[in-house]
Amino acid sequence: MSKFKVAVLLSGGGSNLQAIIDKFKSDETIELSCVLSNKKEAYGLKRASKANIDNFYVDHTNYSSREDFDRELMGILEKYKPDLVVLAGFMRILSPIFVNQYLGKLINIHPSLLPKYKGLDTHKRVLDNNEEYHGVTVHFVDNTLDGGPICAQSSLKVETTDIDELQKAIHELEHELYPWVINQIANKKIYLSDGEIIKKV
Ligand code: GAR
Repeated sequence: MSKFKVAVLLSGGGSNLQAIIDKFKSDETIELSCVLSNKKEAYGLKRASKANIDNFYVDHTNYSSREDFDRELMGILEKYKPDLVVLAGFMRILSPIFVNQYLGKLINIHPSLLPKYKGLDTHKRVLDNNEEYHGVTVHFVDNTLDGGPICAQSSLKVETTDIDELQKAIHELEHELYPWVINQIANKKIYLSDGEIIKKV
């Protein structure tokens, strides 16, 4: 039987990619088939190379529209036929052309307890507001900003006022949660049905 194929899109350091690589490198049913970045200097591309995973840099500034850039990504992904497209710090909004193509097969990780703190600078806003709890969310992507159906969340008690320390703690949660969710989706324990999330976990 062919493996469940995962593609990762990123723009930065790729610590989540690394967690996914480490989790599935010897997995019998799940494989990481390609990594795409819109940033040339993204360290995530190096992580992919080191792990012998096909990786691509596509400069979004070369495309006159969001849709044209997304079509280029889709053209690359089409060759790999991923079962799941994983956004891991991919800092671009995807157009409906892309989202609709992969609806139910496209997930994102966001550093907040959605629906709180959509958008950017989540750690700063959490600290500014003296929130008692903070966390991470993995959700299916739809055509709303950080608004798709939630697969799972992890939370922590905010016990620091240092943004770097908080970010580090959040990353640790992400590195556990994201591979876990991918595994659940690959095993059909979490999925979308008519836009509703089904969880058998
Ligand atoms: C992660 O914290 C992820 O939640 C966030 O980017 C970081 C990427 O880290 N994503 C977003 O903010 C999406 N809106 P990484 O490159 O080390 O995996």
